[in-house]
Amino acid sequence: MKILFIGDIYGRSGREALEAHLPRLKTKYQPDFLIINGENAAHGRGITSKICGQLYDLGADCITTGNHVFSQKETLFFIGDDPNLLRPLNYPEQTPGNGYGVFTTSAGKKVLVANLMGRIYMDVLDNPFRVADALLDRYKLGKDVDAIFIDFHAEATSEKCAFGHYMDGRVSAVIGTHTHIPTADTVILDGGTAYQTDAGMTGDYNSVIGADKDVPVQRFVRGYAANHMSPAGDTGSVCGTLIETDDATGLAKAISPIRIGGRLPSTEND
Ligand code: FE2
Repeated sequence: MKILFIGDIYGRSGREALEAHLPRLKTKYQPDFLIINGENAAHGRGITSKICGQLYDLGADCITTGNHVFSQKETLFFIGDDPNLLRPLNYPEQTPGNGYGVFTTSAGKKVLVANLMGRIYMDVLDNPFRVADALLDRYKLGKDVDAIFIDFHAEATSEKCAFGHYMDGRVSAVIGTHTHIPTADTVILDGGTAYQTDAGMTGDYNSVIGADKDVPVQRFVRGYAANHMSPAGDTGSVCGTLIETDDATGLAKAISPIRIGGRLPSTEND
């Protein structure tokens, strides 16, 4: 099975880049399942029901999020009615929405997608390692589901790397999000789990992680923020990761980074 994951959509530049390039990526790679992290899709902070609709229209089977999931207050009210939109699973139990979902592809294969958040330099939620253990006690790869994909939304590379190794052999893929910078470590770990520390954002890279660069640069120079940040508005790059799983075991057979558009070097030269 081929799973295409698209990294954090950031503002209008990200949405437009996705609209411009996703059809070509879908034609070229023919993914069986498409997951998009949309937590910065609404002006850099959160997601709206309208944008969720746009991502579904583009073919998203599941939308993951992270620490900004509730930055648009409306999300608190509609996420409970949208099983395809996930928030981090390690929020407290009564939090609106779902932290994972089991989805069925058009070929009848079952894909479990879970969204978890790290705790280093982030709001401290429940221990994502323990929460993942509890989930995987209930769902065995290759037996209960055909693939398990985890979007691990975290800041610290060490925590992400450790989480990948902890999941190794139990899930198809652990792909990191949140830092908005794609990392060059797409690998299949020893036990067969595809791993990348961060898929990178889908947005304008002439920015500070998606935001118009002047305000964050001056914030570091002065030590305080003089203005609110807003999304950078130039042409965006689409960043993502393609994973191919073994139909019998659910483990990964291949992983490759995807970059197209904007100012990043492209992986799509043909
Ligand atoms: Fe984030």
